[in-house]
Amino acid sequence: MNILVTGGAGYIGAITNRLLAENGHRATVFDNLSTGHAQAVGEAELIRGDLTHPDEINAVFGSHQIDAVVHFAALALAPESMEKPYEYYRNNIAGGINLLEAMRKAGCKTLVFSSSCAVYGTPETLPVAEDAPIHPESVYASTKRTFEEILVWYDRIYGVRSVSLRYFNAAGAALDGSLGEDHSPETHIIPVALAVAQGKLAEFPLYGNDYPTPDGTCIRDYIHVVDLAEAHIKAIDYMQKQHRSDVFNLGVGHGYSNNEILSTAEKITGKKLAKKYVARRPGDPAMIYADNLKARTILGWQPVHSDLETIIGSAWQWENIKSGNR
Ligand SMILES: NC(=O)c1ccc[n+]([C@@H]2O[C@H](COP(=O)([O-])OP(=O)(O)OC[C@H]3O[C@@H](n4cnc5c(N)ncnc54)[C@H](O)[C@@H]3O)[C@@H](O)[C@H]2O)c1
Repeated sequence: MNILVTGGAGYIGAITNRLLAENGHRATVFDNLSTGHAQAVGEAELIRGDLTHPDEINAVFGSHQIDAVVHFAALALAPESMEKPYEYYRNNIAGGINLLEAMRKAGCKTLVFSSSCAVYGTPETLPVAEDAPIHPESVYASTKRTFEEILVWYDRIYGVRSVSLRYFNAAGAALDGSLGEDHSPETHIIPVALAVAQGKLAEFPLYGNDYPTPDGTCIRDYIHVVDLAEAHIKAIDYMQKQHRSDVFNLGVGHGYSNNEILSTAEKITGKKLAKKYVARRPGDPAMIYADNLKARTILGWQPVHSDLETIIGSAWQWENIKSGNR
């Protein structure tokens, strides 16, 4: 299939492009390179464009026969979204609608959307299933929820099928360490911990050690980015076969505390990581992890690389390759 990957120069998008090619698909990347990197796109065609400019995304559908879209492009930092709500709604909602309109006009009716477990906010029960109460606690989460709702109506009115994948914490790198996370600023726990191990950062800022968890630090569900990428291919197959829209959690079903992440990072890197406890961040739930039964039973998806050693080991390999290249 010819697949348009918006945000395909970013972390998860670039790894998914590679997997799409390995599975016999042709990926065309559409990215404004605001947080992505042209060199991450590899063999795929890169079209530099911005979803907030309707002409630019319409032109892609005019010049390319696109069978399905995987929509990663977004601004994706929850704290930043609370300072720049307009930019987040404009990029993630207005940009997303421009994409849907371009698809609709071109008759393209299959889309996979990068949603987030942030739509659940602070969960009432764990693990969190797809039918848990929806309670966004940031503008970022609100953009994800709102776009999920828009997708429901585009299906009902125009027959555009979509699968919204609610990612938990994407982590790790390509299994050979050749492609991985490269955000600036970097806010995700594993690359920040590895920056301390490399001496690029003096100490690890740990947000809160008084949460009601066994070691007092937050617990999150980490999913290896290659497992995550695999689910997008399953989601496209599902829409091709079932002709319906749906929503799935993508997590491994259990969590690790921040301290467990740091001690595994110490084991893998062989470095002692200096850490500093700082105040809790507003809106950070103590614990969140997925009920992934629906993705396993309906999509036939299984996380196979998401043990902590593989996640941190691949990320460490990538950080060292990346540093060598600079
Ligand atoms: N990383 C995670 O743990 C995580 C968790 C939940 C959801 N998500 C979602 O997954 C998606 C990908 O996340 P990521 O970590 O790879 O982020 P990323 O920032 O690495 O990738 C986003 C890509 O989208 C591009 N982009 C942004 N706005 C654009 C626009 N208007 N037009 C064209 N391109 C645009 C950026 O240049 C970048 O290449 C995002 O939608 C994010 O909200 C990520």
